[in-house]
Formats: sequence, C-alpha cells, structure tokens
Amino acid sequence: MFFTIEYKSRQLITFIWSLFFLALMVHPVYSEEIFQSRIVYYPIGTQYSPVNQAAQLLSTTITNSLKACAIVCNQNVLCRIAEYDTSASGHCRLFEGDIDTTGSIITLPSQSRVGVVQISASLFSQHGFPCGTSCQENRYLTCQNDSTCQCMPHTYWNKTASICMPQSSLVGAPCQQNMSMCREDLGYSCLPTNQCGCKLHLF
Ligand SMILES: *[C@@H]1O[C@H](CO)[C@@H](O)[C@H](O)[C@H]1NC(C)=O
Ligand SMILES: *[C@@H]1O[C@H](CO)[C@@H](O)[C@H](O)[C@H]1NC(C)=O
Ligand SMILES: *[C@@H]1O[C@H](CO)[C@@H](O)[C@H](O)[C@H]1NC(C)=O
Repeated sequence: MFFTIEYKSRQLITFIWSLFFLALMVHPVYSEEIFQSRIVYYPIGTQYSPVNQAAQLLSTTITNSLKACAIVCNQNVLCRIAEYDTSASGHCRLFEGDIDTTGSIITLPSQSRVGVVQISASLFSQHGFPCGTSCQENRYLTCQNDSTCQCMPHTYWNKTASICMPQSSLVGAPCQQNMSMCREDLGYSCLPTNQCGCKLHLF
C-alpha cells in the first residue's frame, strides 16, 4: 500500500507501508512511522554515486515502475537509496548508504532518477530499548542478542543525532574510536589515525 504526493513540481514523495501494514493492525501500539519508508525522489537525469559501489550495491533488478522499485527497496531493510532507469530497460538498483558521507547524487543526461529513504531520529526512538515489543518488526532497528534494539547491519549509532548512520567502506574515511563507523564486515576498523582501514597483522 502506498500513496504519492506531488511535491515542489519536480520531486515526489512516496509513503510505503506494504508488508508492514498488517503488522500495524495486529500491534496498534506501534507508531506508524517505523513501518513505512518516506522516499524523496530526485528528477530524471540523476544517478547515485556511492563511494564504494562494490560494497554498497545491494541488488540490480528490473521493475516496471518507479513505485515498484521503491517497494523493493522498502522490503530490504538495508536499502536507503533506490535508483530507477525510466527508459525501457527498467533497471532498479538498490544501495546502502546516504547522500552526504558515503555517496552523492550526480546529474547527467540519462533517464534514471534517484529515490532517497528519509531518515529522522523518530525512526530510531526505540534504540537501546529491550527488544520485547520495541523493534521486532521495525524496519530501522534490529533485536540484538535477544536483548536490546540496535542499529541494522552496516550502520552505526550516532548518539548526537540519535540516528543509525551508514558505516564507511572507503579506506581513509574519517572515523572516531569505538563507534563502529567503518564497515567491519569488510575487515575495516577505525585505525589510530582516526581513518577507516585494514589493521596490519604483524606476526
Ligand atoms: C551480543 O553477544 C556477544 C557475545 O555473546 C557480545 O560480544 C556482544 O557485545 C553482544 N552485543 C550486544 C549489543 O549486547
Ligand atoms: C553525528 O551527526 C551529526 C549531525 O548529523 C554530525 O554533525 C556528526 O558529525 C555525526 N557524528 C558522527 C560521529 O558521525
Ligand atoms: C575504546 O575502547 C577500548 C576498550 O573498550 C578502551 O580501552 C579505549 O580507551 C576506548 N577508546 C576511546 C577513544 O574511547
């Protein structure tokens, strides 16, 4: 289930409930927000440029509409960027990341456009809470060790902003110690120089 609002003539915003709508009916205590994605679309002629495509590209599929592409994105909890080729090819590319530190939106003569999942602190209000009723069906948090609600994989907790932000997959990206700001699944950690990179193992 979704609806779309025309916004500032060229941008579109889609709200998606899809899979999570039923859960909402069963557990009315949950806030609506955590089951939906609010996606802001950039105009035709935009593409997403990740800092590390191999690490951030989640999937490439063919869908028959921009909305269908956004729905596929909403169904993948790691997806924060959807790029849809409005030409006949219908390529739908999904990415992890953001448009500030782990990638950017570029304009070029093409038929593709980018949709960005909007992130705000209210989506993460259950961070650190006991799992119980808090994050079992939350798109933005996951229950860790059966105990507390934590950030999804490949993201880290920014205490100041109260948001789970994408970890960097770029060697040399700035980081702070003990905050999991680098993609640990790729073997990166925050080096003593406060940059993401691979630790050297001396034997
Ligand atoms: C989960 O458990 C593992 C090992 O049991 C521990 O290393 C890790 O810190 C725990 N994570 C959290 C978020 O409590
Ligand atoms: C946390 O978020 C704030 C606001 O977006 C940003 O200025 C700050 O650099 C972030 N800190 C870390 C450690 O990511
Ligand atoms: C990071 O964590 C380690 C072990 O928990 C601790 O010894 C160290 O002081 C911490 N560093 C910072 C900068 O907080």
